[in-house]
Amino acid sequence: MMEDLAMQLLELIMNSIHADSSFIEISIKESVSRNEIQFIVRDNGKGMDDETLKKVTSPFLTSRTTRKVGLGVAFMKGLTEQCNGTFSIKSKVNSGTVIVATVERNHWDTPTMGNLGEMMMCSIQANEKIDFLFIYQTDLQKFVFESKEVKEKIEGVSILEPDILLWVKEYINQGIQLAKENRV
Ligand SMILES: Nc1ncnc2c1ncn2[C@@H]1O[C@H](COP(=O)(O)OP(=O)(O)OP(=O)(O)O)[C@@H](O)[C@H]1O
Ligand SMILES: [Mg+2]
Repeated sequence: MMEDLAMQLLELIMNSIHADSSFIEISIKESVSRNEIQFIVRDNGKGMDDETLKKVTSPFLTSRTTRKVGLGVAFMKGLTEQCNGTFSIKSKVNSGTVIVATVERNHWDTPTMGNLGEMMMCSIQANEKIDFLFIYQTDLQKFVFESKEVKEKIEGVSILEPDILLWVKEYINQGIQLAKENRV
């Protein structure tokens, strides 16, 4: 099973969504000079107590009853180890959770980035009440997307309209492309 980084990140975002967050920040920093890709997923959801937090990075914890093994967090942690990176998770009950993960950018085992626009489209689609902040950075450029801004601009129309969702996906992918080409 080989998943790209966007799919891996979507697992973390889904956890944030299921934790009743109203705001989720997703930040990706791709640095050539540091040979590093950094991911941050920050939410203001229900958080985890110390016991859960300790267990969360081992692959045997899940709050689901249908499946015995929770994979999202443990998988991401494993990936960072495999790709010579770092992993940190901090959480506070009723306050939120933040995960910071890095991988070596040109490591043999580092998966491809995948489709970040699609990842954001799926996230927004999962719960239209949540506000998402998406940041993509290179050494030189920064692209920022806020779902709240879109909702304000399209007043009266739902962000779940297929045309709007597709626009979001394209807009984000284009923004990332321009940032990479240093043309933002
Ligand atoms: N952002 C978060 N906020 C609050 N609790 C979290 C968060 N992320 C993970 N958790 C807790 O950690 C558990 C493990 O998460 P993980 O993604 O590894 O497994 P899962 O979501 O239960 O199952 P799976 O992702 O495999 O469907 C979750 O069930 C949840 O209780
Ligand atoms: Mg999960």
